Amino acid sequence: MGLAITRLARNVPEVEIVGAACSSSDPLLGRDLGELAGLGALGVVTSPDVASSLLGAEAVIDFSTASAVAQLAALAARQGVAIVCGTSNLDAAAKRALEKASETVPVLQSGNMSLGVQVLAEIVEQALKRLGLGYDVEIVELHHRRKIDAPSGTAARLVEAVKKVRPNARELRGRDGEVGARTNEELGVFGVRGGDVIGDHTVYLLGDGERLELTHRASNRDLFAHGALAAARFLAGKKPGRYTIADVLG
Ligand SMILES: NC(=O)c1ccc[n+]([C@@H]2O[C@H](COP(=O)([O-])OP(=O)(O)OC[C@H]3O[C@@H](n4cnc5c(N)ncnc54)[C@H](OP(=O)(O)O)[C@@H]3O)[C@@H](O)[C@H]2O)c1
Repeated sequence: MGLAITRLARNVPEVEIVGAACSSSDPLLGRDLGELAGLGALGVVTSPDVASSLLGAEAVIDFSTASAVAQLAALAARQGVAIVCGTSNLDAAAKRALEKASETVPVLQSGNMSLGVQVLAEIVEQALKRLGLGYDVEIVELHHRRKIDAPSGTAARLVEAVKKVRPNARELRGRDGEVGARTNEELGVFGVRGGDVIGDHTVYLLGDGERLELTHRASNRDLFAHGALAAARFLAGKKPGRYTIADVLG
């Protein structure tokens, strides 16, 4: 993600990369970030020293590992740097650290930085409100064969959108055998795995005599980088507190 952000940052007005952190065992350590991203030298060298990577920054974009987030949040708060955190599966310590940091700096954390997925979630909410209870909801996500977890973070985000309108919805991760007729509360969430699919998500709204299929398809990982860069631009100069991708879209 760091390299995707580096490539796309060139085209985003008012964004300049001033530092790049990686872990101390990273084979890419000590290399010029621009050269790693295939852009030619940028004069920014990858460093294991997160604090010095933050020097001169207004915002930091984090896509790392959950165990790295608490320290990053504390350093960014101390140095007055806004935080965009995209790392998945955050543990309690990381969540607490982000919450604490938000007392001092603006913080945006999202398991899915895609602007399109945010809009899909909003459309799903709107559709459910308009259609009423007569429509069943099922979510199907498709990913490449190497994905190790299910359901995807995006599917979880879409479940959240459904539950906003239908708080009694009961998530169901599979059907097998004599499960009986579908109940109104059921919300099926199914993962399909194979090939090199980056990530497709369809929310089915199934009524009598018609159905809506609301689909988002990712064609590469740039959508997350775009969202993270838009978030970083949005946060710079904002008041301390928690922000969401919906705030970025305005
Ligand atoms: N929210 C979203 O929209 C979204 C989208 C894509 C990915 N993600 C999530 O973002 C995370 C990263 O994904 P990725 O595909 O970019 O993974 P990746 O290629 O493994 O990159 C993670 C980078 O963080 C570095 N890192 C790990 N611990 C660190 C530490 N303590 N200090 C400094 N740098 C550290 C890693 O260095 P080493 O290689 O040396 O460990 C690596 O360079 C994952 O949790 C992924 O699920 C979220």
